[in-house]
Amino acid sequence: MAKILTGIQSTGTPHLGNILGAIEPAVEMANSSKEESYLFIANMHSLTQIKDKKVLHENTLSTAATWLAFGLDPIKSCFFRQSDIPEVTELAWYLSCFFPYQRLKLAHSFKDKVNNLKDVNSGLFSYPMLMSADILIYDANLVPVGKDQLQHLEITRDVASRFNNLMGDTFIIPEAKIQNDTKYIIGTDGEKMSKSKGNTIDIFAEDKKLKKQIMRIKTQSLSLDEPKNPKLCNVFKLYNVIASKKNVEILNNRYQKGDVGYGEAKELLYNEILNRFSLNREKFFELMDNKEKVELLLEEGAEKARIKAKNVLKRVRSRVGY
Ligand code: ADP
Ligand code: TRP
Repeated sequence: MAKILTGIQSTGTPHLGNILGAIEPAVEMANSSKEESYLFIANMHSLTQIKDKKVLHENTLSTAATWLAFGLDPIKSCFFRQSDIPEVTELAWYLSCFFPYQRLKLAHSFKDKVNNLKDVNSGLFSYPMLMSADILIYDANLVPVGKDQLQHLEITRDVASRFNNLMGDTFIIPEAKIQNDTKYIIGTDGEKMSKSKGNTIDIFAEDKKLKKQIMRIKTQSLSLDEPKNPKLCNVFKLYNVIASKKNVEILNNRYQKGDVGYGEAKELLYNEILNRFSLNREKFFELMDNKEKVELLLEEGAEKARIKAKNVLKRVRSRVGY
């Protein structure tokens, strides 16, 4: 049976891409699984990038509120903060001692970051060891992640097998469940939506800011009555993933007939976003006004998760003779 685990870094409030690509599908899987799932906020991974304690704290709560606003059931799943489980960092150390430096050097995510970030710290380098510990410490066997995380899952499987081979059977070898195999949600510039590119649509932003982001979506410069190819239009591409089939078809026809301008199409997209996410937005704002409630849920989740983490760590400690 599938024991699902996934995490998301708290490097900001999750955007439309994170939500449709990672959070919604993971919540759906967890809610329909018969086994207990582990869903957490990887706030220790975020420390590799963020050094402001207020920002870190705020991002952790807004990421937690996002999970909850999208239907995560904290009773059915263990929902917690990575930093509340100190066993994870201890396990990350053991794993580091079983994984060759030369292999870790080949991780794509580190190689990308070396060239793009100012703060290239050792935490960034050993990031995959902490992620492997996140997964192995709960005996998880199915990990829903985006394609970009696949190599980290390969590293997890590899380090778990190396440990098992040398020290005796200890870890379950987990499998990745790739979300959105080919499709990424595009951002306002038509490229993959990403915090680092400043092209996000933040569905939890206040109305005015959200509208401004949508009005910024890059389009061609055809006049209102010229026929337009919807497949080439960034506004339409986003509309296509948000609106109902019927509305998509109506707009598709209007594009082809030259019956809609970009301003109106953006307005339609804005309304669809408000419509589709109105309940999630309501829940999110309510939770952000009631942070103690989020805090309490995270603490309760950590208590449950820690029981399992302690058990698995005990197994590992006995294997290495401690
Ligand atoms: P970002 O690129 O904004 O920093 P992360 O790398 O923190 O986002 O991604 C968190 C999760 O959201 C990952 O599982 C990733 O695959 C998913 N994700 C990020 N951006 C998109 C996108 N544009 N479309 C679909 N999924 C995405
Ligand atoms: N590295 C993942 C990301 O950036 C977040 C993460 C940390 C994670 N630990 C994990 C995902 C364990 C799945 C399992 O999206």
